[in-house]
Parts: sequence; structure tokens; C-alpha cells
Amino acid sequence: MSTFIPPNERRVQSPHLPFGDQRGAPFYGNDILSVLQFNREDLDYIFEVAKEMRAMVERVGTFDLLKGKILANLFYEPSTRTSSSFFSAMERLGGSVIPINEVHYSSVAKGESLPDTIRSLECYADVIVIRHPEVGSAKLASEYAQKPVINAGDGPGEHPTQALLDLFTIMEELERVDGLTVTMLGDLKHGRTVHSLARLLSLFVVRLNYVSPEILRMPSELIEDLSVQGVSQKEFRELDEVLPETDVLYVTRVQKERFEDPKEYEKAKGAYVITPQTMQKAKDEMIVMHPLPRVGEISMELDQDPRAAYFRQMEYGLYLRMALLAMVLGKA
Ligand code: NCD
Repeated sequence: MSTFIPPNERRVQSPHLPFGDQRGAPFYGNDILSVLQFNREDLDYIFEVAKEMRAMVERVGTFDLLKGKILANLFYEPSTRTSSSFFSAMERLGGSVIPINEVHYSSVAKGESLPDTIRSLECYADVIVIRHPEVGSAKLASEYAQKPVINAGDGPGEHPTQALLDLFTIMEELERVDGLTVTMLGDLKHGRTVHSLARLLSLFVVRLNYVSPEILRMPSELIEDLSVQGVSQKEFRELDEVLPETDVLYVTRVQKERFEDPKEYEKAKGAYVITPQTMQKAKDEMIVMHPLPRVGEISMELDQDPRAAYFRQMEYGLYLRMALLAMVLGKA
């Protein structure tokens, strides 16, 4: 008699559920693969938990909510903020981390497949965070894993946890999302952060402006999907036209590593540089965001401007990722 259980159903039927009825907790055991899995109610819940995390960090720094839990932090692409914020989030919750940043030193360099790496890591860890250069890689990992998988960026595909922290930043800084004009600037073709953020913002009543060089326009499938949802979207080549009406200016770098032809990169880089002079045309009450790293798109002189929110954005990311880890492990 076959006892085969398809990979996706195993998690629910696992005999290894922790003690206590955590199965009713929102997101317990869930993967986080795409922003498409969230509705506005979910977002309210996640942001409430993130605010609690902030209060706890401010009060006690580190606490034992995830004591005994282990995170496998598997990064096939470079990362500073995403990997270290997940690391810090797990440590602040009293858990521990298996960091795999230099995939060249692991068995992947010997030719191991992603499914085998995932099946191995989940023997040692309770949750897996994965960043990988191919679109769909996090979903593939989740099909083989019984433990929750969190997508920390799948090539030019999605970056759902970044979009959640970006939205949390907007909510905390401007105290609303409905009614805002959000201008996304830079490499909108390859930037997974803007792909995820635009889709997440489509749950709200917003106006989206896309400013990019011709060759780095927002993918047409995304624009079509959002049009069907009734989102107001406009494309521009110059920032000047839309800066005065902008409430959130979301700047991105030109993603050198995703260009097939280096000459195309050379043509596109440096297309936009935000300086204090640029910002003279912007509202007083608006924010400038960037997922970072920046490679020249925002001058360092802008860092003193109170509208420059990109360093605060990173801190919001810590609380948001603490919330997500606690939730998928059934502790929030
Ligand atoms: C972004 C990413 O990796 O997609 N960075 C991040 O996660 N904070 C943006 C980028 O690399 O340009």
C-alpha cells in the first residue's frame, strides 16, 4: 500500500508538530514565497506583531520566544541586509542560525541539487530562508521542504519580505497608504523589490509612477495585472515630471549582475542621481526609500535630510522579520 504523501501536504500531516495547539496560529507552518499570498487583514496582523517586536527590542533587546529553534540562512547570492537582519531577528528571539553565505564552500559547489540541499538542511533547522539567482527557486525549495521556507529574493522575481518591510516603513512614516502617490525609480525591469512592492501596494488605493530608462521599464505583465485590478499606473523617463506630487520616492540601483550585455549596463547606469538639489522640488512631507545597496543613485549629502528614510527602513526590517519568523514557527 502506498504511503506516499505529496510534498505540499506533508507539513500538515507531519507527526512532528510541536507541543501545544499552535496550528490555529496565523501563518503557522506557512511558506512565505510571494506577496500574492497576503490580503489587507494579514498585513494589519503582521504589522501589529512587528510593532510588538519593536516594543520588546526597545524594552529588553533579546528575549526567548524562539529559544531552541534553528534557522538555516541559505544565500546563493550576495546579501548584507537581508541575511544579517534575518540572523539578528532569530538571535533577538533567542533562537540560533546556521549561516550559509558562501555557497561555494558548501556541497552546492560539488554539484548538489537545490532539493537535496533543502532536504539536508531541514534535518537540522526549523525554518529555511533562501536567496537564489533563479526565479521560482524558493517555490521549488518549498515543494521539497516540510519546514517553512521564506523567499529572500529569487533572481529578478520577488522579494516578499522586503516588500512587507517597505510597506511597514510607509505605514509607520506616513501613517497611511491609501491616497498616496508612490514613484518607483531606476531598474524596474530587474528589481525584484519593486516587483513585489507594486503588487503589494495594489491592495491599496494608490497612484504608481514608474520612472526608468526605456530598456529598464517595469515588466508589461506586471503592469497588465495591476491594470486589471484597477490600479492607476503611469510610466515616465524623467523624474522632474512627477517628483512634486510624490509621497514616496522608491529608488533602486541598476542591477549590474542581471545584464547579459555589459555595454547595456554602462548605458543605463547613472541615469538618475538624487541630490539635495533634486529634492528642492519634492514635498516637505514625503519620504525617500531605497532597499540598498546604493551605488551612486542617492548622494550621501541627502542622508541628513529628514525625508531620507532608507536607514530607518532597515531597522523596520528587523522587527518585520522577527514577526515573520515568530509567526511561521507558531509563536505569534
Ligand atoms: C535588494 C535585493 O537584494 O533585491 N537588496 C536587499 O535585499 N536589501 C536590492 C538590490 O540588490 O538592489
